[in-house]
Amino acid sequence: MTKKQLIQEALKAQQMAYVPYSNFPVGAAVLTRSGKVYTGCNIENASFGATNCAERTALFKAISEGETAFDSIAIVGDPKAFTAPCGICRQVLVEFGLDITVILAKSEEDFKEYTMEEILPLSFTPKDLENKGGTA
Ligand code: THU
Repeated sequence: MTKKQLIQEALKAQQMAYVPYSNFPVGAAVLTRSGKVYTGCNIENASFGATNCAERTALFKAISEGETAFDSIAIVGDPKAFTAPCGICRQVLVEFGLDITVILAKSEEDFKEYTMEEILPLSFTPKDLENKGGTA
């Protein structure tokens, strides 16, 4: 699976976005370390806070199928600008690794890459709960 193919998957998922309120469709495709791809779109709700972002839709689909080791995620939103994951999605992503590659794409040809560590520095991760109650 190339980066271009992963972006293609995200673009396909974007077509399924349910966005009657924002009219801002987003698509995401997550590649597992085992080589599988799970896709997601944003799903809005009349009760706005119940909206689920594309990234979390893709991740939750993967996690609910037993996948927790992720290589990368491709995200597509506005074709004229790079759409970066929101804070909540960054927190969900970092749970599964600071080394996950985040691909922000305007198109298959036009994309940028970051690591989770770069886009969520000084993060709170499962490691922080390892010594709870300790003095360290
Ligand atoms: N949204 C995503 O799905 N992912 C992002 O990275 C940014 C925002 C969605 C949430 C909402 O449906 C719409 O975009 C506008 O905020």
